[in-house]
Amino acid sequence: MRVTSIGATIALITMAALCSASGAESISVSTDASAAQITSGKALTQKLRCTGCHAATLVGIPGFSPSITPSGVLKQYNQKTFETVLDTGVTPSGAPVSPPMKVYHLPASQADDIYFYLQTLK
Ligand code: HEC
Repeated sequence: MRVTSIGATIALITMAALCSASGAESISVSTDASAAQITSGKALTQKLRCTGCHAATLVGIPGFSPSITPSGVLKQYNQKTFETVLDTGVTPSGAPVSPPMKVYHLPASQADDIYFYLQTLK
C-alpha cells in the first residue's frame, strides 16, 4: 500500500491500538482516520472505478480528469465539502461536477473513507 509516512504512522498507531484493545467496540475513531477507514477508502476507489477515470494512483489523466490527490484538487476540499461533492455533485465553488464525473449519492461514511485514503497519497 502506498502511504506517506504520516499515513503509515496513523496505520501503525491504529494497529497497535487494535491489538491492545480487548474488543473492537471499545475503540472510538469518529474524527481521526483509522487504518480500517484508509483500507476501506482504497477499496472503494477501486470498486467505484474512481481509479478507472482518475488513474490507478488517482493522479488524474492529462486532458481527461484531474488529480484528486493532496497535490491536486483535494487541497480545495475539506472532509465536509468532499462528502458534499460525492453526495450531491456540488463542488466547493458551488458549481456542479461535469459528466462523465457522476453524482454518486455516496453515504458520508464512505466519502470519509475515500477522503482519508486520498490524504495518504501524494
Ligand atoms: C467515468 C469517469 C469518472 C469516474 C468513474 C470518476 N470520476 Fe471524478 N471526475 C471525472 C472527470 C472527467 C472530472 C472532471 C470534471 C469535473 O470536475 O466536473 C472529475 C472530477 C472529480 C473531482 C473534482 C471536482 C472539482 O472540480 O472540484 C473529484 C473530487 C472527483 N472527480 C472524485 C472522484 C471520486 C472520488 C470518484 C470515485 C468515487 C470519481 N471521481 C470517479 C471522471 C470520473
